[in-house]
Amino acid sequence: MRLGIAAPLRHGWRMSASILIAPASLADAAPIAAIYAHHVRHGTATFETVPPGVDEIAARMAKVLDAGWPWLVAREGQGGDVVGYAYAAQYNPRAGYRYACEDSIYLRHDRQGRGLGTRLLAALLEASQACGFRQMIAGIAGSEPASLALHARAGFAQVARLASVGRKHGQWLDVIYMQRALGDGDAAPPPQEP
Ligand SMILES: CC(C)(COP(=O)(O)OP(=O)(O)OC[C@H]1O[C@@H](n2cnc3c(N)ncnc32)[C@H](O)[C@@H]1OP(=O)(O)O)[C@@H](O)C(=O)NCCC(=O)NCCS
Repeated sequence: MRLGIAAPLRHGWRMSASILIAPASLADAAPIAAIYAHHVRHGTATFETVPPGVDEIAARMAKVLDAGWPWLVAREGQGGDVVGYAYAAQYNPRAGYRYACEDSIYLRHDRQGRGLGTRLLAALLEASQACGFRQMIAGIAGSEPASLALHARAGFAQVARLASVGRKHGQWLDVIYMQRALGDGDAAPPPQEP
């Protein structure tokens, strides 16, 4: 069953009886590293080939959280097990890119294809807009069909395809870029110049 995004709660977005989408903390680095490691080893959604350790994931998380950007986790059940995560970070560190972000979203491999990615991305879009981003870019490595469908359904349009820029698991792989505006997009200037 698909549920729409619920009203934000003080500590997160409760999506159903068993899934809570909430801001991540560094204490979530270990399950996040485990989720990502599976996709690094077995998938083509990332072109990393060696899974980063928990400390490296914690450092990546700290960079995002310290900048005030959103890093969300989906917690399941009474134990609050992390079964997916999504974050947005500035697309390019140069100042003029301040209002453009890129998203990343990964689910535990046994939780894919059940609507959880759709829910996480909806929450991430809301949180990214709330922190001031005006454009979101998705770089879809390996042209992953689920990721393409996920982003298209969330209002992203394809803007570019880089052919055969990746190589993993013995295949040449494309990256498809998709983009969508957040909030006012480019219809109004931002509150502050970079
Ligand atoms: C991509 C990902 C986050 C999507 O989350 P999900 O919960 O599996 O996807 P959902 O069940 O919410 O479905 C989203 C859309 O993808 C479609 N979809 C899901 N799995 C699919 C598959 N294997 N092949 C084709 N389409 C698929 C769904 O039908 C749905 O489209 P619709 O709304 O038009 O029906 C998740 O599959 C994942 O973690 N994949 C591996 C990592 C990855 O590719 N991350 C993206 C990096 S940017």
